[in-house]
Amino acid sequence: MTSTASGHEVVPLEGDELRRQEKDFTGYADLGMVRFNPGRCLFMEPFTKFADKIYKFPVKSSDVYVVTWPKCGTTWCQEIVWTMRNNPNLDNQMAKMPVNGRVPFLEFDMLLKSKLLKPPAPDNPMMQGFQKMCPGKDPSDGVFFQMSEALPDPRTIKSHLPLSLLPPDMLKTSKVVYVARNPKDVVVSFHHHSRLFKGHNYVGSFEDFVQYFVDDDLLYGPYWLHLKEAWERREESNLHFIFYEDLKSNNIEELKKLNRFLETKLTDTQLEKISNYTSFNEMKSRDLVPGDSASDYMNVEVIHKDGGFFRKGTVGDWKGKYTPELEVKIDNWIKKNLQGFGINFKYSTA
Ligand code: A3P
Repeated sequence: MTSTASGHEVVPLEGDELRRQEKDFTGYADLGMVRFNPGRCLFMEPFTKFADKIYKFPVKSSDVYVVTWPKCGTTWCQEIVWTMRNNPNLDNQMAKMPVNGRVPFLEFDMLLKSKLLKPPAPDNPMMQGFQKMCPGKDPSDGVFFQMSEALPDPRTIKSHLPLSLLPPDMLKTSKVVYVARNPKDVVVSFHHHSRLFKGHNYVGSFEDFVQYFVDDDLLYGPYWLHLKEAWERREESNLHFIFYEDLKSNNIEELKKLNRFLETKLTDTQLEKISNYTSFNEMKSRDLVPGDSASDYMNVEVIHKDGGFFRKGTVGDWKGKYTPELEVKIDNWIKKNLQGFGINFKYSTA
């Protein structure tokens, strides 16, 4: 057992608990899994190499962090925030680069170790971006971590880590956009993601996946703890809290709030154009996979059957996905965990 700069004890998963993960998450669990206690956040072992570096990551006053639990609308918000800050007139050539190259995923290096992923070729755009941004740096010290460090100001950076594992001065120094989404849609979306991406390669059932979710046994661990850490700080001036469902139903109003928070001073016309540019259909139509073919890191049969990363982009797609028993289970779990929160999630557009 080791301890981290954030004050967590790192506890390796063992025995049946690890074997269960290895059986179902065949893309990553064989790398070893660890929990960060207190909190029971769950990561693959390679995260331990980055945990302290991330906790001590030097934040800047011009930084904006997009922080979410997985599948809450991160990519959508990354594109909105980057576009508002860097491409207000939709004429910045950098916009052609994939969003994770412009808004790097701080802890993504832990996910690149899967044996199901081919090591990226030197002509891979991500590696080329790394060589350009980080000349002379060693990729084994973290491609995405070092790109996050080297990103020119103003930096926008993505993370799925809870606030307690991110730099403690982040909310004093920089701005954080936190996106939350109702848990019934989140688990449907994460199930798809985990089957789609080879780095996860989930091979179990949807019922078991929901069980993993309610047991806090999915990658990143407790959904409620993540949400609570941000919700409790929602009144702080450098934290902006957004619900996916509001962004969907009242996009322009939410962009106006972001405009004030980010101090981007965009006009209503600019915001209208950005709203359209970042809509689900527009982002899906731009979702080209440069360099590598999709099959290098996605399961093509899942794409053909259930769609790619841009799957549905709606509120309420969970309907019809749960058996009555499973729905009772998740509803009870939500009810229990929402006590004292003061959040009313929207589960449909009606
Ligand atoms: P679904 O699987 O329900 O379709 P994240 O970026 O956090 O991984 O979240 C991905 C989810 O956000 C997916 O949900 C994806 O389709 C949805 N999404 C991505 N871009 C979107 C957009 N522009 N508008 C609405 N939803 C979007």
